[in-house]
Amino acid sequence: MIRDEFYVLSNGINIPKIAFGTWQVKPGDEAYNSVLTALKLGYKHIDTALAYQNEESVGKAIKDSKIDRKELFITTKLPADIKGYNETIEAFNTSLKNLGLEYLDSYLIHAPWPWSNVGLDCKAKNVETWKAMIDLYNKGLIKSIGVSNFREEDIKPLVEATGFYPQVDQIRFFLGNTQEATYEYCKKHNILIMAYSPLATGNLLKDKILNEVAEKYNVTPAKICLRYCIQRGTLPLPKSTHEERIKANLDIDFEIKKEDMDKLNTIRNPELDRPYRS
Ligand code: A2P
Repeated sequence: MIRDEFYVLSNGINIPKIAFGTWQVKPGDEAYNSVLTALKLGYKHIDTALAYQNEESVGKAIKDSKIDRKELFITTKLPADIKGYNETIEAFNTSLKNLGLEYLDSYLIHAPWPWSNVGLDCKAKNVETWKAMIDLYNKGLIKSIGVSNFREEDIKPLVEATGFYPQVDQIRFFLGNTQEATYEYCKKHNILIMAYSPLATGNLLKDKILNEVAEKYNVTPAKICLRYCIQRGTLPLPKSTHEERIKANLDIDFEIKKEDMDKLNTIRNPELDRPYRS
């Protein structure tokens, strides 16, 4: 079953195939309750970020779940506007403290540039940041390191400066918005893609082709979206604040046939087709 399955990262670390996403989940009761519910229902991997401002609630839910830390996989992210060696170490320590953890399973640079200045050339700063991440990784404080919203041209300078490839790239990935160039680059270099907004933040679910395929398999459109990510070898991070949906999103043990994957690949939605969150 998907809930018990793993991908293996390039450094040999096992990573659960599906994660519970917490972007846009409000700090406090909403984040605490939804993460605790997810953990109780069998999610082993929780994705958060310092910028989501819900790490403390996520950490409290992790603690209260009483699940053995070794069973869990926790991902968080360095805010996009914090770059530089010392700044990275400091933000990492803040996240660790917020989460109440002694180590992270994955730590990602949230974006190549600050969200307030998308496209700004931050190559040199990203390299400094990457060096700090590598040092934390070598100390065993992070089990895997990576990036988010990075494309080939953003990743290459990191590798050229350090020889160290990210183990993960978390990108906006869903039907009709699969960023094929980044996808191919990551496949080639054994970088696992974490698919954020796998349901296009809910905006894809009325798509005609998606609904035709969902009907054929007698499942909801959401399940087709998630299963599609898995069959492309990516790791979806569905988010929900409703228990029945949190549960349903984990129950995706069926196989979409190739002909239907091909059909899903014809989905085009110009309104949703963009590489970054908005
Ligand atoms: P809610 O939190 O009210 O359940 P994404 O994971 O792409 O960011 O999408 C999250 C959005 O999709 C949220 O608005 C969430 O709403 C909704 N959602 C999550 N799971 C499902 C589902 N199984 N069916 C329908 N909508 C869902």
